[in-house]
Amino acid sequence: MKRNPQLNAHGELQHLITLEGLSREILSAILDTAEPFAEVAEREVKKVPLLRGKSVFNLFFENSTRTRTTFEIAAKRLSADVINLNINTSSAAKGESLLDTVDNLAAMQADMFVVRHASSGAPYLIAQHLAATGRSHIRVVNAGDGRHAHPTQGLLDMYTIRHYKKDFTRLTVAVVGDVLHSRVARSQIHALRTLGVPEIRVIAPRTLLPAGVADMGVRVFQDMKEGLKGVDVVMMLRLQNERMQGALLPSPQEYFKYYGLTPEKLRLAKPDAIVMHPGPMNRGIEIDSAVADGAHSVILPQVTFGIAVRMAVMSMLAGS
Ligand code: CP
Repeated sequence: MKRNPQLNAHGELQHLITLEGLSREILSAILDTAEPFAEVAEREVKKVPLLRGKSVFNLFFENSTRTRTTFEIAAKRLSADVINLNINTSSAAKGESLLDTVDNLAAMQADMFVVRHASSGAPYLIAQHLAATGRSHIRVVNAGDGRHAHPTQGLLDMYTIRHYKKDFTRLTVAVVGDVLHSRVARSQIHALRTLGVPEIRVIAPRTLLPAGVADMGVRVFQDMKEGLKGVDVVMMLRLQNERMQGALLPSPQEYFKYYGLTPEKLRLAKPDAIVMHPGPMNRGIEIDSAVADGAHSVILPQVTFGIAVRMAVMSMLAGS
């Protein structure tokens, strides 16, 4: 059997590149590890010494508000030293290659790279390069690569679902919107399947569905009203305008009419359904403000849980 390149010979997580292929035991261990870290936030001194003396480098080659900031908070709560490379003012802007940048930061005794990049595979390339050059003790965490994966977003979404719904094995979950361009959707679907969610629905117009999406073990709906009937969890996706080529949608107004989550459409879900969104939201296009700010929304708790989940991932990778 082919070994998962994120795991060491003992089956322990060495890097976090994707949720695809990770076992239920590993996903559950990360969620369980995050629980006590959520309590650290309630303390007067919000710090534990697990990463004391370690240097975490945030390398964000694409914009971010939530992921970059919560990784920084998480690393600081673990007592790590955090270095945020400003890509726009770094030598990457002068044409330095990704691996040259990595080599130079590794020469500054980096212990962990948290990487966001527009190219799918960039974090994996870095992990491979570190291994090939005898520096596999430096950990790599994927903070979102192209359309490929956003594993810590997928994990914080699972933490949120477990927090509100307890048992994955009784749920119907809908993932709604721009699945074609979404690294978040891919990570969510892998995690939902691994954790035993019996019915995963994908709701999108045909132009925003990847080829072969049904092979991921999901039920596909193009009619949002049909797809939302009786669901426990609605996971909205952002329209990834920066990754769209050509005219995939008639207009934002038309998209909102058919695929925007409004109070009227939400009433088709279970009365206690929760509404999630990874952010940033396009209000009035993917989601009505009455829903985003309404009683079913757990969008801001997702952000808060993200800190604990990222603390769990970093501490496990560091072997703490
Ligand atoms: N969910 C998410 O990745 O948000 P940011 O782009 O703000 O990090």
